[in-house]
Amino acid sequence: MGFGDGKVVDIHTHMYPPEYVKILESRTSIPLVRSFPGSPDPRLILLDTEVPILEEAEAAKARGETPANIPGRPLTKHYSSLNQKMHFMETHEIDISVVSLANPWLDFLSASEAGPIAESINADFSRMCEEKCGRLFFFAALPLTAPRDVILASIAHVSNLPYCRGVILGTSGLGKGLDDPDLLPVFHALADARLMIFLHPHYGLPNEVWGPRAKENYGHVLPLALGFPMETTIAVTRMYLAGVFDQVPKLNMLLAHSGGTLPFLVGRIESCILHDGHLHSAGTKPKKTIWEVLSSQIYLDAVVYSDVGLKAAVQASGPEGHERLMFGTDHPFFPPLGSDEEGEWESVTWNGAAVRKAFGAEDGEDSEEGKKVRGVMGANAVRVLNLRRDGCR
Ligand code: URA
Ligand code: ZN
Repeated sequence: MGFGDGKVVDIHTHMYPPEYVKILESRTSIPLVRSFPGSPDPRLILLDTEVPILEEAEAAKARGETPANIPGRPLTKHYSSLNQKMHFMETHEIDISVVSLANPWLDFLSASEAGPIAESINADFSRMCEEKCGRLFFFAALPLTAPRDVILASIAHVSNLPYCRGVILGTSGLGKGLDDPDLLPVFHALADARLMIFLHPHYGLPNEVWGPRAKENYGHVLPLALGFPMETTIAVTRMYLAGVFDQVPKLNMLLAHSGGTLPFLVGRIESCILHDGHLHSAGTKPKKTIWEVLSSQIYLDAVVYSDVGLKAAVQASGPEGHERLMFGTDHPFFPPLGSDEEGEWESVTWNGAAVRKAFGAEDGEDSEEGKKVRGVMGANAVRVLNLRRDGCR
């Protein structure tokens, strides 16, 4: 992409290490990996909306037929191969990637298996980063279904891994969402360890919301384009209303997909709080405004594919909002359908073009706006996440 002298950093990029894929292959309910006649690659089936098509495909397979609809998405080598990640980075001139386990992380594991599996998966990420010294960092996965002392031990473990810069978290928390008071010790531990929370959606909205035509006609569009962003918006607003940002002032969060719809809705949220009789009489109104939280404790990725959403994200993030946004790709999701996966991905070039358009500046331009472009494309991530590593050969 060539962004002048600045480094290009991808902070939203996923992998499923081979050990994780093996777990998915052994499962009988989602998330799982299955092979079907008529599909050259195994299929990765993650979302609730995919279950009806999965069931039909399993029934067809049991009858020895090729399913009319193949569920999920192809599990290509892009999901697990470190070489493929490096090739993708070279193709798109990405200097540094902060990789994370993709959804639904370790959310489905039993209490007893979550701790050891988390340790082993985080060690995998750590090894990959070490092998590519200085090119890769990672957000660790937490064993959230394990007892609290195991979760806290995991935070202590990953905070000592030299390439770990935070943790990736879904919205379910310990099972009751991120406004659960039982999560406060976890948030305190993450804040004390100066680990960023990369908040990422997975569960979307209930299937009924999409209507009866969705299964046959609308593919993954509704859950991914709308369900994911609404899930993030709701999760963060619940945290805010519960006073988490007041109680853990050092907590830092990076929100996927430019905060869902939060930048667009923040004024409405503030107004609803101001006019809410219950919050007023109960005295439970958060101390900081949500605008203050957005400009001090929240960072947004730039994975929104359009300058319109990006401008809202910058403006909602305060006077220095351009310093709180970071470029990402969401690789290996959203591969090109009409061209070679080894080449350029529109999902990357669209996000880069949106950054240039939002600031009206070209890469490498010697101007204030050009500097902002370089900030979003990489310099902000290097500064905020301290992506420096000495001694790499
Ligand atoms: N689909 C997913 O399931 N996860 C992502 O991160 C992107 C698309
Ligand atoms: Zn993602």
